[in-house]
Amino acid sequence: MDELAQLLAPKFDNRLRSHIKNIDLSSISRIPASRIQETALPNIGSIELVSSDAFATSYDELYKSNFHGGERERSDLIVTRLQDDANGLREHLAPYRIIGIRDPAGHVAGGAQFSVLFLEDGRHAVPYLQYIYVRPENRRQDLSELMHTLTLAVAMADAAKRGGGSENIIVPFTLFETEPPVHGANDDKRATAAERTKIHSKSGSVALMLRRPVDNRILSTHVQPGLETGEPPLTYVWALRANPAVALELHDDQMGKAVVAAYYQSLRDEGFPEENIALAERMVEARYRGSEFCLMPLGYVTKEMYVNIDGTP
Ligand SMILES: CC(C)(COP(=O)(O)OP(=O)(O)OC[C@H]1O[C@@H](n2cnc3c(N)ncnc32)[C@H](O)[C@@H]1OP(=O)(O)O)[C@@H](O)C(=O)NCCC(=O)NCCS
Repeated sequence: MDELAQLLAPKFDNRLRSHIKNIDLSSISRIPASRIQETALPNIGSIELVSSDAFATSYDELYKSNFHGGERERSDLIVTRLQDDANGLREHLAPYRIIGIRDPAGHVAGGAQFSVLFLEDGRHAVPYLQYIYVRPENRRQDLSELMHTLTLAVAMADAAKRGGGSENIIVPFTLFETEPPVHGANDDKRATAAERTKIHSKSGSVALMLRRPVDNRILSTHVQPGLETGEPPLTYVWALRANPAVALELHDDQMGKAVVAAYYQSLRDEGFPEENIALAERMVEARYRGSEFCLMPLGYVTKEMYVNIDGTP
């Protein structure tokens, strides 16, 4: 067992321990085991793959206190997804996972909620991290770093399982969406977005964008469909956080397109309104024309790259 796995294994619940037993955690952690031992470990009682019951009774409250309004998915949908996962009803869908950390007294300290998207090339899987949160008294203790590492580990284990135990399916990065600091209706929201960008940038996360050589424009690759019938699409920004064991690069446009396609497929699988998904997909595909995918630092994203670029807010 590698150094980080050795350190953490006593904290894992049985499900998590057996799921990731073959993954080398040290190689996919951005920070060394010695730092985790000092900063995070003393504050951790247990680390679990969260069940539907544990989410409803313990994690939901912290989830709701960290995310508000349109950015938050309904809790009952999350509970049902976890139940279906446990009952084997989602075998052909993207696995849905929540990693949770409790303090030594058993209280919830943080969670990371994600789906594992399998790309159509059959060679890559990408955790799509929807929410990550740490309660205020446990911040700056590297708990989110630890959850990022475990997100990769769980996705790698899921990929190995889907690939029949072979290690051919690579997990190159974690995908998440972000709202740049230039967005936001008021000072408070802009400040929150600015802080999030700072944290993401520290981890080396980059934006997945499109470059249009004809007019030198850079455009966002992320149009989120309205999640309820009648709601309009919204342009956000896709961000990639590298797996420390894999170089972060786009070999060609296929990778970018496959990521975007896998995202819309997962929304279809989860039953979001088809009309809205098709509209968002058409909009982003229109941006592909004459453009090529590129990566850029999150801090370089400007309003012109995603606000009103094709009539969407
Ligand atoms: C974002 C959040 C999850 C970070 O959790 P955390 O456990 O405190 O973060 P960590 O201690 O693991 O720190 C991770 C890195 O970010 C840096 N960082 C964390 N909080 C920071 C802050 N407020 N300002 C600047 N840097 C910060 C850390 O220094 C570390 O970088 P380093 O290795 O270069 O030192 C937490 O602040 C939170 O729950 N915020 C509210 C919910 C949210 O915004 N979630 C993210 C959007 S989905």
